Amino acid sequence: MKIPKRIQPLVDDGLVDKVLRQLMSGKEATVYVVQCGEHIRCAKVYKEASKRSFKQAVLYNEGRKVRNGRRARAMEKGSKFGRKQQEDVWQHAEVEALYKLADAGVRVPQPHGCFGGVLLMDLITDEEGFAAPRLNDVSMSPEQAVEDHLDIMQHIVRMLTVGIVHGDLSEFNVLVDEWGPVIIDLPQAVDAAANNNAKSMLLRDVNNMTSYFSQFAPELEKTQYAKEIWALYEMGELTAETILTGKFIEDKTVTDVGDIMDEIEAARTEHEENQQRLIEFEV
Ligand SMILES: Nc1ncnc2c1ncn2[C@@H]1O[C@H](COP(=O)(O)OP(=O)(O)OP(=O)(O)O)[C@@H](O)[C@H]1O
Ligand SMILES: [Mg+2]
Repeated sequence: MKIPKRIQPLVDDGLVDKVLRQLMSGKEATVYVVQCGEHIRCAKVYKEASKRSFKQAVLYNEGRKVRNGRRARAMEKGSKFGRKQQEDVWQHAEVEALYKLADAGVRVPQPHGCFGGVLLMDLITDEEGFAAPRLNDVSMSPEQAVEDHLDIMQHIVRMLTVGIVHGDLSEFNVLVDEWGPVIIDLPQAVDAAANNNAKSMLLRDVNNMTSYFSQFAPELEKTQYAKEIWALYEMGELTAETILTGKFIEDKTVTDVGDIMDEIEAARTEHEENQQRLIEFEV
């Protein structure tokens, strides 16, 4: 196809050889399938700020660090230079989050840099090599739903252990390839420690996922992963290896956080013992 204007500089620099087709045009960006040497990749071209929707909202930007003093001051003033800087921060937030998450073992597309508002990353594909469907486009058995739900909960935990909350996680921002769910679309990712809205965003992300999978496995509705994950995070006890139970004991009369943690710990031990019994049973 004809090379879109925004991708032309990447072609001139030899980063992209060919633009094969347009994949999607979303609210925030247009996504193309491109050829880079022998690799088929994906180029996400961000729309200009004025054409974007909600995601740049103040809520998400809180706590985003801008190290350079001149940049930070310009952004506060809202001058033309300031707006350009703001735009750069926004456009680089996704590639930075992707590198960090890929390193932490979260299933995201491997990024290959961001150049002039164009993010290059691996194309997630199905078994036939076509662009992978979104979670919203697939249906599944109850067993598969429980498995994929837990898988995503563990990815959310991994993200949080490196300080990131997705902030817009839904069945539209998760792709499914032959190995399971892959998380995408992170320009709004939030710094868990620096943003006061991180907790409510994490709760919303987790609950979105749980209600999506509940349509296939209704028993998931009763789980309380969101509260469990945040309680462990606040206590500094969340690690990539944490085994979640989906249980959270909410006792309004218990004000001592230590007591609550003891209860969670007891639930976890019980869960682990059950798992162990199951494994022994299967062997
Ligand atoms: N790495 C990828 N591999 C395969 N498909 C992708 C990839 N990245 C994005 N897509 C496709 O492009 C669509 C839009 O991407 P993304 O969600 O990142 O952008 P967006 O502008 O925020 O879109 P929306 O507003 O629809 O959420 C995705 O729903 C997905 O179908
Ligand atoms: Mg999206």
